[in-house]
Amino acid sequence: MSPHDWWREGVLYQVYPRSFADSDGDGIGDLRGLIGRLDHLEWLGIDGIWLSPIHPSPNEDWGYDVSDYLGVHPDLGTLADVDELIAAAGDRGIRVLLDLVPNHTSIEHRWFRERPELYLWADEVPNNWRNAFDGESSWTLDAERGRYYLHTFAAGQPDLDWRNPAVHEEFRRILRFWHERGVAGFRLDVVNVLYKDPELRDEPPPLPEDHPEVRRHGHRRVHSMNQPETHELLREWRALCDASEPPCILVGETYVYEVPEWAAFYGRGNDQLHLSFEFQLTYSPLDADAMSAVVAEVERELPAGAWPCWAGSSHDAGRLATRWADGDERFARCGLLILLGLRGTPFLYYGDELALREGHVAPERRRDRARTPRDAGRTPMPWEPGDGGWQDPWLPLEDTSRNVADQREDPASTLCFTRDLIATRRRLADLRTGAYRPLAAPEDVWAWQRGEGCAVAVNLGSRRARVDLQGLVELSTDRTREGEPFDGSLAGGEGVVLTLRRARSRS
Ligand code: GLC
Ligand code: MG
Repeated sequence: MSPHDWWREGVLYQVYPRSFADSDGDGIGDLRGLIGRLDHLEWLGIDGIWLSPIHPSPNEDWGYDVSDYLGVHPDLGTLADVDELIAAAGDRGIRVLLDLVPNHTSIEHRWFRERPELYLWADEVPNNWRNAFDGESSWTLDAERGRYYLHTFAAGQPDLDWRNPAVHEEFRRILRFWHERGVAGFRLDVVNVLYKDPELRDEPPPLPEDHPEVRRHGHRRVHSMNQPETHELLREWRALCDASEPPCILVGETYVYEVPEWAAFYGRGNDQLHLSFEFQLTYSPLDADAMSAVVAEVERELPAGAWPCWAGSSHDAGRLATRWADGDERFARCGLLILLGLRGTPFLYYGDELALREGHVAPERRRDRARTPRDAGRTPMPWEPGDGGWQDPWLPLEDTSRNVADQREDPASTLCFTRDLIATRRRLADLRTGAYRPLAAPEDVWAWQRGEGCAVAVNLGSRRARVDLQGLVELSTDRTREGEPFDGSLAGGEGVVLTLRRARSRS
C-alpha cells in the first residue's frame, strides 16, 4: 500500500491508556506499559493506534478534561516516553494518533483563570441547553466572575469560544507541536460541537424522547452543534495536515445521526475529515437488515473519494462482544468480520481481538461521573490468566477468562482469528480497497462483494442458511473450513471471507 494511504488500507486500534498495560505496578496503565506491549500490536498486524487523551487532567472526565495540551499526565508518563513510544511504534510500522479535545478544556486549565475571553459566557442563563453529562443546564455560575459559562459536558469542562480567533491560534500551535514530535494524526473529540449559534437561541421543543440525540443530550441539538462554521475550520485544518511533512490525518468524532449531515464532515471527499466515525453502525443491533441498511446509506451519501470508518466498541460505546454479541464469541467474530470486511477503515478497541466482554464494575468502584457510567467498557486489558498482569488496577478486572496469553496459544481462538483476518486483509487487495456491493442473501444473512474477487458473508441468525456464492473459503469464523471450496452453507453465528471463483479462473 502507498505510505500516504496507510489510513485507508490499514487497521487502527484504540488504546485507552489507563487500562491497557501498567509498567510500574501502580494499577494505572501508562505509556511505558504500552511500549512494552507493542509486540502484541505488531503481531496482530495493527497499522496505527489512537490514544485516548494522555494530557494532564484532573480526570473529571478521565482525560477528556485537559488542563495542558502540550504536556503528559504524570500517571501516564513523560514527553520523553511519548517520543520513545512514537519511535518504537514506528520501528514496527505502527503510527500514533493522539486525541485532541478542542470543544472544551478542563476548568483547571490556566486559560480559564487567565484568559476567560477564550470561553463562552453569559450574564444570565440564556437558553434551555442541557449538558450531556447529567442532563442539567449547560450553564454554570462562576462565583468569582458572577457570570455563567457554557459546558456541553460536565461543569468541569467549560466550552471554548471558537468565534474567538485566539482559540484558533492556540489550537494551530497545539497541532503543530504534536506533529513535530512525529504524531501521525488526531482523533478530534466531538468535533461537530465546536461552534454554537451566535445568538445562543433555545433548542426547539417538543422533545421527541426516542431520538438518539435526545437520549444522549436531553434534547435535539439544532443550535448548540453542527453549525456551518465547523466545516470552514475543518477545511483549514485539513490544508495544514496535507501540507505537513509527512501529511497527518484527522479522524472526527461526529455524533451526528442523520447520514447526509454526517457525510458533510467529509466535505467534497478530500478537503475536510479523512475519516469520521459512523455511529449508526456502532449502535445498531447485530442484525443483517439493520446493518446493511446503514451501510447502504453510507455508501450512497459519502462524496466520491471519501472513505468510511467503522468501530464496534469504544470507551464510550462499550464493547462489541457485549453489545452486539451478548457475550457469544461466535457473534463477536461476526462483528469483527463485518468491521474488517466492509469498505472502510476499521478501528478495533483494545480487547476486541479477544472478544472481550464488558467488565463488572460494582457501584462503589465506579469512576465515570456521566449519568450513564461507561466504566464497564473501560476495564483493564487481560494479558494473562489470574490477575491479568495487573496489581490492584484502577478499575476492577474480575474476569480474565479471555486473555492474550491463553488465546495466543490456541489457534482456534478469537485472537488468532483476528490476526488471521487482518493478514487476509493484507493479502487480498480487494478486501482492502474493493468497492462494496451487497449480494442477495436469505433472512439473517448479510453478504457482500468486495471488488471483483472477494466476498464476505455472515449469518447473524440462529438457523443454518444457504448462500448462493461460489468461491474458496479464505477464512471462516469457525476456523475449520479454510482452503476449501465454499459449499454455500453457513451455520448461525458463522461467517466467511471468500475469493470468488469467477475472478480466480480469470487470473
Ligand atoms: C467524547 C469522548 C467522551 C467524552 C466527551 C466529552 O464524546 O469520547 O469520552 O466524555 O467527548 O469530552
Ligand atoms: Mg502505571
